[in-house]
Amino acid sequence: MKITVIGAGFVGATAAQLIANKELANEVVLVDIVEGIPQGKGLDMYESMHVLESDTKIIGTNNYEDTANSDIVIQTAGIPRKPGMTRDDLMKTNSSIVKSCIDSAFKYSPNAKFIIVSNPLDVMTYVAQNTTGLGRDRVFGMAGVLDTARYCSFISEELGVSMQDIRGLILGGHGDTMVPLTRFTTVSGIPVEDLIAKDKLDAICKRAANGGGEIVNLLKTGSAFYAPASSAVQMVEAIVRDQKRILPCSIMLEGEYGYKGVVVGVPVVLGKNGMEKVIELKLNAEEKKALDTSVQHVKETIDSAKSLLNI
Ligand code: NAI
Ligand code: 2OP
Repeated sequence: MKITVIGAGFVGATAAQLIANKELANEVVLVDIVEGIPQGKGLDMYESMHVLESDTKIIGTNNYEDTANSDIVIQTAGIPRKPGMTRDDLMKTNSSIVKSCIDSAFKYSPNAKFIIVSNPLDVMTYVAQNTTGLGRDRVFGMAGVLDTARYCSFISEELGVSMQDIRGLILGGHGDTMVPLTRFTTVSGIPVEDLIAKDKLDAICKRAANGGGEIVNLLKTGSAFYAPASSAVQMVEAIVRDQKRILPCSIMLEGEYGYKGVVVGVPVVLGKNGMEKVIELKLNAEEKKALDTSVQHVKETIDSAKSLLNI
């Protein structure tokens, strides 16, 4: 198993380290445009493997030739947002970065699966899929796992119970319009709506939807990376270990939920073949309306990316 991480910044470097710590690959390649950064971080990480008792080989590079024959590519290169910016403000810069990085990586790893992280996430996943021409089984985005992790951690905190017992789900675009599904959230099998009052649960959903912004406002110089990197690595692990996990991932919809040609987060089965199955939930009218709003917003941003990149 060879895994390439494009972008040796906060998310990329943290993801590479987690992959190596968990020995999910024999080889991890960290690639970045800045000379010295991926090499330095890669070597530093590699030297930590002795202490961490992992035999994963890590290299840093500026050359895509070194990424050849990767099984999985994680795309994190791009600019993060600063206070006052929305994820959509990153579209112009990141769409050309994502297009060029994915183009180079795909050239050397035509059989890889591509996990997109760069923002605005759903749109960048669209750009990546369009660049490779691959099916949605091999190009999908990480956002729902992170949004759901935030939501579940706030529920765990509110109830004072283990994180492990919370199972939740957030659908839709990775932005303010995301759709937390309280009706599909349980605590050790108990519906969360029976355990937390509606006003408190609504506040938790709102905090989860603004979870990225909360961290940006605290950090001031960039955006979250520990939870995002862990979330991308959970997707990697599901593929590497063929776990068939049901995780919310951003994928191109082909009629599911009543939408076509738009990339948004829905629950899917992740295994050795990548995105193996889309799970379609029976949404009620209120949930469907919220998903419609989210999909409409993503559609508009995809349309601007398409005219920007002439694709
Ligand atoms: P960062 O600024 O720490 O790292 C970005 C890296 O990309 C830098 O090292 C930079 O040199 C590199 N880069 C820029 N252009 C490149 C190119 N053409 N080729 C190769 N490398 C290039 O940013 P961070 O915090 O790692 O975030 C990365 C991206 O991930 C941002 O767009 C951010 O918004 C997004 N993100 C998405 C999340 C999600 O849930 N999908 C969660 C967290 C971050
Ligand atoms: C987040 O939600 C920045 O999209 C990233 O933290």
